[in-house]
Amino acid sequence: MNTLRLQLRFLIPLLLALVMAAYLALPLMDRLTLRWFARDLNLRGSLVTQTLADSVSEGLQDTTDARLQSLFDRVVQDERLVGLGLCSLSGEMLRHSPRFPSSLTCEQAAQISAQSDAEIRIEGGPVHVGEHVVMGEGGPLANLVVLQDFSFVERRSEDTRQYLIILIAGLGAVMALITVVVAQLSWRGWVQGTRALLRGEGLISPMVSSAPELQPLAAELRQRLRDLEDEYRRSLGPEAVWDPDRLRSLLRTQLRGDQLIVVSNREPYIHEKEGDKIIVKRPASGLVTAVEPVMRACSGTWIAHGSGHADALVVDEHDRVMVPPGKNEYTLKRLWLTPEEERGFYYGFANEGLWPLCHVAHVRPVFRESDWQHYREVNQRFADAVLAEARSDDPVVLAQDCHLASLPAMIRAHLPRATILTFWHIPWPNPESFGICPWREEILAGLLGSTILGFHTRFHCKNFIETVDRYLQARIEHEHSTISFRDDTSFVESYPISIAWPSDAEVAAWPAVALCREQVRQRLHLPAEHKLAVGVDRFDYTKGILERLHAVERLLEKYPEWVGQFSFVQVAAPSRGSLEEYRSFQDRIHAVTARINQRFEHPACQAVYLLAEHHEHDALNELYRAADVCVVTSLHDGMNLVCKEFVAARDDDQGVLILSRFAGAAREMGQALVVNPYHVEETADALQRALTMPAAEQHERMASLRSTVREFNVYRWAGRMLTDAGRWRMRERIEARVQRSRPE
Ligand code: F6P
Repeated sequence: MNTLRLQLRFLIPLLLALVMAAYLALPLMDRLTLRWFARDLNLRGSLVTQTLADSVSEGLQDTTDARLQSLFDRVVQDERLVGLGLCSLSGEMLRHSPRFPSSLTCEQAAQISAQSDAEIRIEGGPVHVGEHVVMGEGGPLANLVVLQDFSFVERRSEDTRQYLIILIAGLGAVMALITVVVAQLSWRGWVQGTRALLRGEGLISPMVSSAPELQPLAAELRQRLRDLEDEYRRSLGPEAVWDPDRLRSLLRTQLRGDQLIVVSNREPYIHEKEGDKIIVKRPASGLVTAVEPVMRACSGTWIAHGSGHADALVVDEHDRVMVPPGKNEYTLKRLWLTPEEERGFYYGFANEGLWPLCHVAHVRPVFRESDWQHYREVNQRFADAVLAEARSDDPVVLAQDCHLASLPAMIRAHLPRATILTFWHIPWPNPESFGICPWREEILAGLLGSTILGFHTRFHCKNFIETVDRYLQARIEHEHSTISFRDDTSFVESYPISIAWPSDAEVAAWPAVALCREQVRQRLHLPAEHKLAVGVDRFDYTKGILERLHAVERLLEKYPEWVGQFSFVQVAAPSRGSLEEYRSFQDRIHAVTARINQRFEHPACQAVYLLAEHHEHDALNELYRAADVCVVTSLHDGMNLVCKEFVAARDDDQGVLILSRFAGAAREMGQALVVNPYHVEETADALQRALTMPAAEQHERMASLRSTVREFNVYRWAGRMLTDAGRWRMRERIEARVQRSRPE
C-alpha cells in the first residue's frame, strides 16, 4: 500500500506532463504539416504553370477562347487539380475551368495565395489557392490561379495525430513501468538498509555498498539513531548497576544454576602459622581481588594451589575448606604441589617464561624443557581436579591466567560439553614476540580448548587472533571473533576486569579521610600538611617502580621547594623472591631508594619510604585515603587494579591518579594524568601538576573516575562473560536437540 502511494506520487505528475505535452504538440504538429504541404502544392502549381505557359500564350491569341477552354478542361482532369483560373495582369478573370468557384475573384485569389496556408473551403472540400505568373517571350502574360485538392492534407494530419497520440501514450506507459520498477527496487533497498541499521548491523550494506551516494544519508541516519538511543537511555536513567544480586540472578536464569568451578594457581586465602596461631592472609593479586567477590556472589568451588604453610592444617579429607573464614560462602579446594613442581611450573615456565614473554618489559624470557614438562603435568593435575569436582558433564569452568594455558584442552578432552571460560590476566604480545616460545603451538592449542577466551582489551584479542593465524592451521572468523581449531570453536572477546565497588555499609565503616591522613603521617613521623604520593604494587619489574623513583628524584631536583614538604611511599608486596631476576630487581630498588634519600636528606622526612612487606586490604585502603597522589607507572600491564582501588577508596572525591598509558586501565580512565613511564621528565611534571592541582579540578576528575569504576565493576566483568557463556550453552543445547531430531 505504501509503495503504491509512493509510486502514484511519481506517476501522476508524469502522466499530467505527458497530457500537457500532447495538448501543446498536436496543434503545432498540424500547423507544421499544413505549411509543408502548402509549400509542396505551391511548387506543384508553379510547375503546372510553367508547363502550360506556351499553351496559355497561344490560347490568349485565339479570339474564340476555344483553345484555352479545351486546355483547362484537359488539365483539370487530374484528380488533385480542382480548378484553374486565368487572370489578366490587371486582375480581370479571363477564363476558368468549370469547378472554379465563380465567387472567387482574381484579387481575392492573389490575397489568399499570399497567406501561409492559402486554403479556402469550396463545395467538395478544402482547396489550396496558388497564383503563378505565366511568362511569355516578352515577359508576364497573365496570372494563373491553380486550385488544388487540400483534403488529403487533413487526412494525413489526422493520421499523424493518431500516431503521435499512440507514441506519447506508449512512451508514458514505458516510463511509468520503469518508474514503478525502480521505485519498487529502491524502496526495497531502503527498507532493507533501514532494517539492518535498526538491527544494529552497523553499516547498512544494502544501501551503502551498492549506492555510495547514499552514504551521507546513512551516516545521518546512524547518527540520528544514536541520538535516539542516547535519549532513550537517558530517559531510563542510569543503567541498572551490576552487583552481587544481579550476578546471582544471572546465574540462576541464564545458566540455570549450573555448577561453577574456578581454577587458578593463586588461592584467595592463604593460611600461615604465626607462632602457635594460624592466621589468614589475602595475597597481593589482581586476580584474587577480581575473582573473589564474584565467587562470593555465585558460590561454587575454587580450585587453587595451596601455597600457605598452614593450608594443609585447615582442609578436610578432600582438601576442601569453606571461605571466607567465618563466612563460608564458597568452597576452596586446595591442590598440593611438590617444591620441584612449583619450581618448574610456577617459577620456571609461568614466571620466567610466559610472564616476561607476554609483558615485553625488557627482561628475557627463559624457556627450559624441564619447566615445560612440569607445566604440562601440573596443568593436567588441575584438569584432573576439575574432573573430580564436576557434578555433571557440562559444568561452567572459569580458568584463570597464564599458569593454566594447557588446561582448557585437557578438560575439553574429557568433558566435551563443559563451558570453559579462560581469562588471560596479563597482556598478549604480538605474533613475533610470542613466536620465540618453543612451545607456542602447544600453548595456543591448549587455550583453544576454551569456549570463551577473554582478554582485558581488544588490542590483546587482536594480538591473540593474529598469533593463532600465524602459527596454527585454524579457521578464523574475524567478523564473529571466533576461532575454529580441530573440532572446537572458541569465542575471543575483551572483558576489562575490575574491582567490586564498595557497598555503602563498607564505606560507612571506613575511618574518615582526615583520620587516615593523620594516622599515616603520624606513623611515618611526618607533619600534618606533608604531601604524600603512594605506589602500591607487587615487587615486580613490570610495575615501573624504578622509573617512578627516577621521576620522584627528578621532581625534587627540578622543584627543590618540595624537599622536606613531600614524600613518596612505595608499598612493594614481596613476590617471586626466589627468582634471581626479582631478587636483583628488588636489590636495585632498595639501592636507588637509599641513594635518593641520601641525596635529598632532610631532618623532617625521607624523600622515599619503601615498605617492602605484605599489607592487608584495610591498611592499603587507609594509605589510599591518606594520599594526595597515587602513582601507577606499569611498563606493561593487562589492566592494573591498584588504580581502581585508589579511586574506590576516595569517597571524598579528592586525590590525583597518575596512570601509565601502558596499563589496560588507561583506556577506561582518561581523567587520570596519563603518562609514559619511560619518559622521566613527563612523569616528574605530572607529579608536580598533581601536587599543585586545585581541589575543584581534583573533584571533577575523581568524580568522573569514580563513576566509571562504579559502573564498570567486576560484577559487570563476570556478568558479561557469564551472559556470553549462557548464550553459548543455549546455542549448543539447541544444536544438540536438532542433531538428535534429525532422521538417521
Ligand atoms: O598474572 C596476573 C596476576 O595473576 C595478577 O592478576 C596478579 O596481580 C599477579 O599475577 C599475581 O601473581 P602471583 O600469583 O604470581 O603472585
